Amino acid sequence: MMQLAQRMSQLGTETAFEVLARANKLAAEGRSIINLGIGQPDFKTPAHIVEAGRKALADGHHGYTPANGIPELRQAVAADILQRKGVEVNPDHVVVEPGGKPTMFFACLMFGEPGAEIMYPNPGFPIYESAIRFSGATPVPIALYEESGFSFSAEEVLARITDRTRLIIVNSPANPTGGVIRKEELDRLVAGLEAHPEVAVLSDEIYGRMLYDNQPHASLLGYEQIRDRLILLDGWSKTYAMTGWRLGYAVWPESLVEHATRLCVNDHSCVNAATQWAGVAALTGPQQAVDEMVAAFDRRRQVIVERLNALPGVRCARPGGAFYAFPNIEGTGLDCETLQRRLLDEAGVAVIAGTSFGAHGEGYLRFSYANSIENIEEAIDRIAKLLAAL
Ligand SMILES: Cc1ncc(COP(=O)(O)O)c(C=O)c1O
Repeated sequence: MMQLAQRMSQLGTETAFEVLARANKLAAEGRSIINLGIGQPDFKTPAHIVEAGRKALADGHHGYTPANGIPELRQAVAADILQRKGVEVNPDHVVVEPGGKPTMFFACLMFGEPGAEIMYPNPGFPIYESAIRFSGATPVPIALYEESGFSFSAEEVLARITDRTRLIIVNSPANPTGGVIRKEELDRLVAGLEAHPEVAVLSDEIYGRMLYDNQPHASLLGYEQIRDRLILLDGWSKTYAMTGWRLGYAVWPESLVEHATRLCVNDHSCVNAATQWAGVAALTGPQQAVDEMVAAFDRRRQVIVERLNALPGVRCARPGGAFYAFPNIEGTGLDCETLQRRLLDEAGVAVIAGTSFGAHGEGYLRFSYANSIENIEEAIDRIAKLLAAL
């Protein structure tokens, strides 16, 4: 019998991938399935970005690159941050990684160990809790409230800091709720953190370009007071519809850059060279495709929120960002896992149970509106039929 390390039992997963597998299996059996479960844009990567990747391969960019990324890409990231967030970042603090996920894993490995506590949003992206547990640290959930647009209360977060707290994870706009943390709440959090200079912050801003109703994005990178302990997570996956390219970055505070780079060297050596050149084209090229994609998501958001709110037993807050709606389904009388299963098996609609995003997700479903308006309309028609027959 092989003897696995105990920590392997601590790793969680992303139910979205399991639902996708089951939805694909049903579709292969000939069932009509509408997938509102998957967390990736349904658009293609813009052509000029694909061309840059192709050209990089043709030009012979086939070798290893520096572990932290090619200088051209790290400079492009710094220029983009300066233009969008008005914050000057040293390109040497930027570490290019294969997606956004490694940053959360690395941060949890850097700070987590038995006896340490790491705070994370709940409901939240499931890999936060998984990575925290894997590190041996204790996950401390930060509750998000439907009535405040799935924001947290800074006061509550600050009150839960102990002398074991090492890291706080913040995500805005958020998966799975589409919630946006208000700037006043971030102000309060940062002000309170001044009394806890030993606590680091990981700000996952991967949906930072996907905001609606003309809201500006409030980035934690804008707060000078915590710059020396802030890790900014961002990337290309969502913004440029590049989930399969595996490209992301983090801006690490000076004291952590070497540790992050060393984790890259140990883990993956570097990101695929051609992908990095595609990333340069994405940041320095025309941004029209991003604007069009966000405008399309906005139109779908209006439709899905209106239609969900018209369903019996369903109440849906208006998401301020990302491409998720997170309706409360308690009024249907079903728990979210039962409803998730019945929607897929009986109505052919793939969505994700709120509990896949933590215990505080009970009573909710996550709908991704990375699908056409026609499919969204058809999915809600099917759900309405199923709920009427309950
Ligand atoms: C909040 C959040 N952060 C990070 C990621 C990971 O992105 P990537 O595919 O670039 O690793 C996701 C992907 O769904 C996400 O929802």
